Amino acid sequence: MPHTPRPLIAGNWKMNGLRETGQALARKIVQQHHEAPPLADLLLCPPATLLDVVGATLEKSGIFLGAQDCHHEEKGAHTGDISADMLMDIGCRFVILGHSERRGEHEETDRAIAEKVKAAHGAGLAAIVCVGESAVERKAGTAMAAIESQLNGSLPEGSKAEKTIIAYEPIWAIGSGLTPNCDDIQAVHAQIRVNLGKRFKSPESFRILYGGSVTAQNAPEILSISGVNGALVGGASLDAEAFCKIAESCG
Ligand code: PGA
Repeated sequence: MPHTPRPLIAGNWKMNGLRETGQALARKIVQQHHEAPPLADLLLCPPATLLDVVGATLEKSGIFLGAQDCHHEEKGAHTGDISADMLMDIGCRFVILGHSERRGEHEETDRAIAEKVKAAHGAGLAAIVCVGESAVERKAGTAMAAIESQLNGSLPEGSKAEKTIIAYEPIWAIGSGLTPNCDDIQAVHAQIRVNLGKRFKSPESFRILYGGSVTAQNAPEILSISGVNGALVGGASLDAEAFCKIAESCG
């Protein structure tokens, strides 16, 4: 039997939440997780300003803390940026890198993302590396080529399964209420694993998440697709009940 990694349900809060609302959301999730522990690892990625307060709320809960980006340098003259070491120091164990919103709004290239992944690994963080095609690429039939090129460019040599998670997030599915059909998700995840196998050992051990309009309603179906090892959840992760329902649909 090939080893199937434990699912990961990650909440990407994006640029949402102030101290009070962020703490209240984290508290609700901790309580629900305690009452009904899911068969999955849980991860909350609040904005940087909330890492402290959310981290304190998650203490001893078994829920992981993560960030949404990091700089590729360890320290220095980089105004406004945060290093992977700083994230480790505040209690993060994961960092999302190469999200399409950062690739788009901040013009992050695959090469820049690979440098950040290296920095994350160097600090001991697990990197969640996002890839995914645009609507135009999907229509043109070049989705897989686009994804493979992102994988090849964004994953540094020597990336290991324990510290590297892939999130397949079709750009057109993010925040749109649209999702690919199950066959498409399964096919892309299988192809990502084949691609990982060309460069890295134990491709079956990598967690490959699906992200893009995951809800409490569609999660049971999406999370039961073979090769899907969890979800990266945006909008629905801002609702404790929805997020925990998603987590509970694992297993
Ligand atoms: P969404 O976002 O769940 O709101 O579509 C997912 C993501 O961007 O990670």
